[in-house]
Amino acid sequence: MSVNLKGRSLLTLLDFSPEEIRYLLDISEQVKMESRSRLRTERFKGMTLAMIFEKRSTRTRLAFETAFAEEGGHPVFLSPNDIHLGAKESLEDTARVLGRMVDAIMFRGYKQETVEKLAEYSGVPVYNGLTDEFHPTQALADLMTIEENFGRLKGVKVVFMGDTRNNVATSLMIACAKMGMNFVACGPEELKPRSDIFEKCQEIAKETDGSISFTSNLEEALASADVIYTDVWASMGEEDKEKERMALLKPYQVNERVMEMTGKSETIFMHCLPAVKGQEVTYEVIEGKQSRVWDEAENRKHTIKAVMIATLL
Ligand code: CP
Ligand code: NVA
Repeated sequence: MSVNLKGRSLLTLLDFSPEEIRYLLDISEQVKMESRSRLRTERFKGMTLAMIFEKRSTRTRLAFETAFAEEGGHPVFLSPNDIHLGAKESLEDTARVLGRMVDAIMFRGYKQETVEKLAEYSGVPVYNGLTDEFHPTQALADLMTIEENFGRLKGVKVVFMGDTRNNVATSLMIACAKMGMNFVACGPEELKPRSDIFEKCQEIAKETDGSISFTSNLEEALASADVIYTDVWASMGEEDKEKERMALLKPYQVNERVMEMTGKSETIFMHCLPAVKGQEVTYEVIEGKQSRVWDEAENRKHTIKAVMIATLL
């Protein structure tokens, strides 16, 4: 059965099958090769993408905007300070108007419900560029980076250290479950993955021969890990929690000792960025030879372009 994603939204990777994720990764690889040879094909000529940001962004905005524009499309940046998003006009009404004028919508913000409503009422593909709950386009770039390093996804052991209930950890856990990987969330009990999604991922992993687990014990988590991943201790919107998180998460900082605890010299370090060096990761690790964070950041663009190609053309 061939995969067809035309017209689909990407709200969470839970909605995508392993075959569909594979399809997106294959297109990502192709567009990365094209980018290396400076090939421009104007795939999105005459198309428009609305990009709504309630939260800040460097990589996600750049990836969507440059990927769409270099293929001839017109990206429109919309800040909530300038449009009537839930203020004066309901979200549903804004979504319906956007759907009449643009070919696709990208949303970054707080509530998952907002991106879901945009998809429901606009009738055009909607891409989740990060909400409090999920960051699916990040997870696609993470898969691409892991596959580039190890030549496979199945059986690769990924350990996420720190705030294991945040958006990046959740989407990575889903991506690993879907692709038959071994994912370990390693952090304090207080910041465990959300139980319904954790259990769902365990069910998915049963079918894909992967595994999903949580532990607070570093030795147990890190033994023979292929990938050590971390993210900020206080996500956007949680700035007031930074002090309390620092106390809670200090034991889970990724430093050279943690990298050595895998017992493997080929273990790689990943981070979605932006990073707070000296908190969740030390300068030595992020700048060290096992770090893949810049490849990972670049792959945001290729995977996002792939998502738009698959859903728009
Ligand atoms: N990783 C990521 O989403 O980066 P930005 O916040 O810069 O978009
Ligand atoms: N967890 C972080 C990811 C930023 C890309 C946040 O939500 O702020």
